[in-house]
Amino acid sequence: MSSPRILVVDDEADLRELLEITLLKMGLDVDSAETLGQARAFLAKGEYALVLTDMRLPDGLGIELVREVTTLYKGTPIAVITAYGSAENAVVALKAGAFDYVTKPVALDQLRIMVQSALRVSTGQAGQPGPAAGAPSRLIGESPAMQGLRAQIGRLARSMAPISITGESGSGKELAAREIHAQSSRAAKPFIAVNCGAIPEALMEAEFFGYRKGAFTGAAEDRDGFFQAANGGTLMLDEVADLPLAMQVKLLRAIQERRVRKIGATAEEPVDVRLISATHQDLAKCVETGKFRQDLFYRLNVIELSLPPLRERLDDLGVLANAMLDRLVGPGQATLGPQVLETLAAYSFPGNVRELENVLERALAFANDGVIEVGDLSLKSARLAEPSSAPVAAAQAAEPPAPVASPAPAAVPPAPDALPNNLPEYLEQVERDIILRALAQTQFNRTQAAQLLGISFRQLRYQMQKLDIQAPED
Ligand SMILES: Nc1ncnc2c1ncn2[C@@H]1O[C@H](COP(=O)(O)OP(=O)(O)OP(=O)(O)O)[C@@H](O)[C@H]1O
Ligand SMILES: [Mg+2]
Repeated sequence: MSSPRILVVDDEADLRELLEITLLKMGLDVDSAETLGQARAFLAKGEYALVLTDMRLPDGLGIELVREVTTLYKGTPIAVITAYGSAENAVVALKAGAFDYVTKPVALDQLRIMVQSALRVSTGQAGQPGPAAGAPSRLIGESPAMQGLRAQIGRLARSMAPISITGESGSGKELAAREIHAQSSRAAKPFIAVNCGAIPEALMEAEFFGYRKGAFTGAAEDRDGFFQAANGGTLMLDEVADLPLAMQVKLLRAIQERRVRKIGATAEEPVDVRLISATHQDLAKCVETGKFRQDLFYRLNVIELSLPPLRERLDDLGVLANAMLDRLVGPGQATLGPQVLETLAAYSFPGNVRELENVLERALAFANDGVIEVGDLSLKSARLAEPSSAPVAAAQAAEPPAPVASPAPAAVPPAPDALPNNLPEYLEQVERDIILRALAQTQFNRTQAAQLLGISFRQLRYQMQKLDIQAPED
């Protein structure tokens, strides 16, 4: 079998030579072009495992080649070489479908890492090509929105482009991120999801980048951070809007340099991590209000994946419900009685797919012979969707300016001697009640409420978000 062949496109003789030598040493075959015209001629004749092109060429721009290769030679990854600090070019190339980029001056260790992962894409390791080859998608649903989403995920899995996933709570953001990872050439390496809102600010740097033994009191041995743990794989920054500004700066640096430095270490180490970020907030708005750095936003938000709320794809209720019942009690062991789907379809599901799971799990506990009847559903009737599918926010605004918890409190907590039939839900309910009481007592002063409860402001804000407790004018 012959070696994979790489096409290098660069008009600078020195750089071209450096790239050629590096690639040859990796056991690869190389063709070199100095212009777009030559590159096109090579592409028409041969098959390449990777095209590596400079951005500025005598007869045009590398981005043109990116567009041509991604449309005419779909299976061929193409990466670009960009000038240092030119985030713009890198982002434009990734948006146009480039597999990845390297910056000038080219760091050879990073070049090698990039080439290796491009080879995995083009030789069809892991989930490539596309979702059809791997395991069936875990994202259930036949609605056009869901089909489109699965197709998009299949495409995104083939590149390194940072993805920003948006969607309401429980709509499947983490599941989608896992799916991208599972279908990518990184599938054999770790997928690490980090909840940025849950890490105390003082520990963030250590958690993300690791530390050396003795770097601070209590650092008894060297420890890796999330970046090292996800090396070769995917790092999901969940609730990314919660990152404090100081940490945003450090993160931006790590992304730009593709290197991190452990606390207490003198040297940086290269990391090869694909980034996926997620939030249920409007990041662009956070940029406007100065809560989120524009430059980091630009770097993370290269490709947007948005998950539709369940109420906008009610066609999927049937397949989703049946798949969940099968998973909960075994295939075919439980069914939905008459009118159940219609009743579910009239509900607005502020908690989306996760809420559907919870509703079904509870209903199963009440159901006879595995048949769920309308009476077994305990939907929070206050949140039933209007026939005109009026937005939930409108319904909330109409309520008195008291603290609003949504979804509205579920069943009243059982009497002290009764055992709760769903411990996590019960505990959430207790926690929600306590937080609401503290907020009511302090006229919704979150700083004071946090003090009352002996937690930090950040912790309180995080719990409020998690439990969907909104301040009157939030
Ligand atoms: N399309 C889907 N098919 C099957 N299961 C789904 C789908 N979407 C979401 N789920 C399930 O719903 C639950 C919530 O999904 P997930 O944790 O990915 O949501 P999320 O958007 O990350 O929520 P949050 O905003 O609360 O973090 C999970 O159990 C997940 O497996
Ligand atoms: Mg999540």
